[in-house]
Amino acid sequence: MTRQLYRYSLAFLVLAVAAAAVADLNGNWVVRQDMHDGTFRNTYFHLRMEGGRIAGSIRLTQFFYKISASSGGPDGFTITGSMMDGRNERKVVYEGKLVGDELHIGTRRANGPLSEMAAVRAAEGEGAMPPRVAPPKLHKVADNGLVRTPPMGWNSWNKFAGRVTAEDVRGMADAIASNGMKDAGYVYVNIDDTWEGERDAHGKIQSNQKFPDMKALAGYVHGKGLKLGIYSSPGPNTCAGYEGSYGHEMDDARTYAAWGIDYLKYDWCGARNLYTDDEMQAVYQKMGDALAASGRPIVFSLCQYGRADVWKWGPEVGGNLWRTTGDIRDAWDSMARIGFNQNDLAAYASPGHFNDPDMLEIGNGGMTDEEYRTHMSLWSILAAPLLAGNDLRSMTPAIHEILTNREVIAIDQDPAGHQGHRASQNGEQEVWIRPLADGSSAVALFNRAAAEAKIAVNWADLGLPAQPHVRDLWRHQDVTAGAEYTASVPAHGVVLLRVR
Ligand code: GLA
Repeated sequence: MTRQLYRYSLAFLVLAVAAAAVADLNGNWVVRQDMHDGTFRNTYFHLRMEGGRIAGSIRLTQFFYKISASSGGPDGFTITGSMMDGRNERKVVYEGKLVGDELHIGTRRANGPLSEMAAVRAAEGEGAMPPRVAPPKLHKVADNGLVRTPPMGWNSWNKFAGRVTAEDVRGMADAIASNGMKDAGYVYVNIDDTWEGERDAHGKIQSNQKFPDMKALAGYVHGKGLKLGIYSSPGPNTCAGYEGSYGHEMDDARTYAAWGIDYLKYDWCGARNLYTDDEMQAVYQKMGDALAASGRPIVFSLCQYGRADVWKWGPEVGGNLWRTTGDIRDAWDSMARIGFNQNDLAAYASPGHFNDPDMLEIGNGGMTDEEYRTHMSLWSILAAPLLAGNDLRSMTPAIHEILTNREVIAIDQDPAGHQGHRASQNGEQEVWIRPLADGSSAVALFNRAAAEAKIAVNWADLGLPAQPHVRDLWRHQDVTAGAEYTASVPAHGVVLLRVR
């Protein structure tokens, strides 16, 4: 009897311990999301019960949060992750509960339903943020001599985002080479985020299944007389959560050179977890040095959303262009807010070194053709990179005409490399001017209003000679103008002139 009781209580104890182990949040949990390209997006929840609170960290795509608040326990809990991103605090909130030996966890958008995922236990240490490598001392990286005029080409992100494949890239190269874009100056075919695979045992970055053979792809693009661009991050992860170059800068630059890559867009993303904005220059310099040591001329495009006054140090790290803003969207408000906000940066553009207000949305469907003409005109006045972001295999004749207007492209590609500025503003009507190498000027009459408006310019007010020769670059016609010129400009439209 006593013996039996002993046995029962022992069995009960074993069960209770097992149950307690299962009902224990402590540990490293991972959600593995199949990206269907041979890679997984892993989200880690490193949880620790500490006197009734849940502590620990959350690692999600490019972000690494510390748990700053919690409520509840294994049967139902909420955790808040916080991190500093430059001067801004970012937060994320998850709700979860233990279900058997899984953690069911998710986020809720504006009181909507919980988007729940199943996390399983991962090895301790898996997914931990790598230790910080101290940034190098500053020095000047030599100018690589590339892009004396703003780069022109195509980039995959605006239209394809994470869906881009090698087939798409070949298709874009075919289109550029055959539809007149190459002749108009478009050269770079740039793969943005989500091409990355895992590193091999030697630390060499591999492309994922969407890009089975990067070297062959470069060969194909080169065969069309075009150049191939790629994308990475100084952080452990890219913005989309793929493998970044952190700790592998030299390896990656060498790999890109061996593949035949001609252009690198280098996106801050995951580096925000390890470095402050004050350290950006040193962090970018590391890749500038690596590219210089690779032995291949590779355009260096800095993408850190215009933080830390990048235009002041971009050339020091070997940068050819630097983003001046957050991401553009295919909408009038986004394009206009970004484009008309670039006035103060004019002094920082010069041959080989350009401000980058982000890639073109022309042809992606969110704006009218009139608005896309404004987009193209404004970017040309700004000496901005002309990186088309639409599907070049299936654009309308109107979009093709906007992207290949030689007279407008000549403004963008003017060899003096001066960036234009706002000459005057009257409510929603603005006149911008860009001095050109041959002594002429590009003058743009922008109407930001939602109704047609008359815009008048007086050449003397613009510092231009009276009775100049004036050509309308969208109509491809000379216009008669005396001391003044007045044009009716459509809603959200532009009249772009070359005045000599
Ligand atoms: C950031 C960049 C974008 C694009 C995406 C890719 O948001 O600013 O231009 O490269 O990352 O993940």
